[in-house]
Amino acid sequence: MKVLVVGNGGREHALAWKLLQSQQIEEVVCVPGNGGTASMARCHNLSLAVDDFESISQYAIAQDIHLVVVGPEVPLAKGITDYLQAKGLMVFGPSKAGAQIEASKAWAKALMQEAGIPTAKAAVFTEAAAAKSYVKAQGAPIVVKADGLAAGKGVTVAETVEQAENAIETIFQGQFGSAGEFVVIEECLQGQEVSVLALTDGLTIRPLLPAQDHKRVGEGDTGENTGGMGAYAPAPIATPELMARVQTDVLEKAIATLKSKGIDYRGVLYAGLMITPEGNFKVLEFNCRFGDPETQVILPLLATPLEELILACVEQRLGEMPPIAWHSGAAATVVAASGGYPGDYEKGKVITGINEATGVTVFHAGTKLNEQQQIVTDGGRVLNVTGTGENFSQAIAQAYTGLKSIQFEGIYYRKDIGHRVLKEV
Ligand code: AMP
Ligand code: GLY
Repeated sequence: MKVLVVGNGGREHALAWKLLQSQQIEEVVCVPGNGGTASMARCHNLSLAVDDFESISQYAIAQDIHLVVVGPEVPLAKGITDYLQAKGLMVFGPSKAGAQIEASKAWAKALMQEAGIPTAKAAVFTEAAAAKSYVKAQGAPIVVKADGLAAGKGVTVAETVEQAENAIETIFQGQFGSAGEFVVIEECLQGQEVSVLALTDGLTIRPLLPAQDHKRVGEGDTGENTGGMGAYAPAPIATPELMARVQTDVLEKAIATLKSKGIDYRGVLYAGLMITPEGNFKVLEFNCRFGDPETQVILPLLATPLEELILACVEQRLGEMPPIAWHSGAAATVVAASGGYPGDYEKGKVITGINEATGVTVFHAGTKLNEQQQIVTDGGRVLNVTGTGENFSQAIAQAYTGLKSIQFEGIYYRKDIGHRVLKEV
């Protein structure tokens, strides 16, 4: 079976890597892929834009691609699944209608309210004055969100009313383009965040192991927000009791409500949850895809062949599958980033020592293979160095040991990935 993976991050490298562990998979083609996917056996890159649906479909049909797995939200929100399915291709990832669950926060909020899913109290605005007077009436802290996709930059957790007002101004001034036509203002929730990624065929929904990522750039979870500086799984805060409640109160309700709207949602439904100190939870957001870097710690622990699960979702027979099997133990990934990220940074720095990093799996994120066949940096988050072990101390120690041999100019990484779980072991 030949599979085409859409995307170029660490998540897509991890998806390709996991799929290639199965002898059923002849070849994986990554569009456009990165230096990691260019270097794996039975894997190659195809240099096309993720939203060039026509070229992707022509290639997939000509090359007998059996299955297309879509990584990022942007092509999903633009309707890649609808487009490729109309050409007769099999696609894992929701339709454009389904992807609204991530692509419009106002739409997702309305769905949660309709479904009775626990979530932060919110109001939606189409102009600044009304939004600002709402913020004044509510007081701070308060959360201001651009409605649409903003590459993770559309959310401000405002500590003061003034910060919230500035965020409202920025959004309505067009900083996020059409993503800023609406503003969602939310009550600020306190607690720990956890990511529950679930696989669904539109009827049945099954969670993967819960994971936690580290969004802030600095140690102790301080400083600017990033795309994620590290992650670990399974997150102990999501106890079996809590996961059972997430299943009935979030995942099943979401799928039933999507279905009632005529949306046949097949792919990943990712619920970002805030767990309060009392052990209650509310949904912060839904995503319509695998999380990054959560996928890089979930897939190393997955024992059931990934393609079997994906095909069961696409063919709507997830309910007939045996329970998803997992390896015991834990996984942790540390992101090696380019100096300056999440601000400006340089690209094209030669990376050495990846092959010498023994005992870890190095997923590439922002890398590419240059003309001299060297792996060079090509993004802010460069590598995801992933360790596994019987427990978190082993997995985390392994990741940091692996990192020691890796070098590129300007490399930096957080030294405290997993600090919460290390306190608990
Ligand atoms: P979102 O894209 O909606 O998940 O928001 C991005 C990040 O902003 C989340 O991962 C949280 O860290 C934070 N955030 C979003 N909504 C809230 C909220 N209601 N209360 C506190 N923090 C939030
Ligand atoms: N790790 C956060 C996300 O994938 O959205």
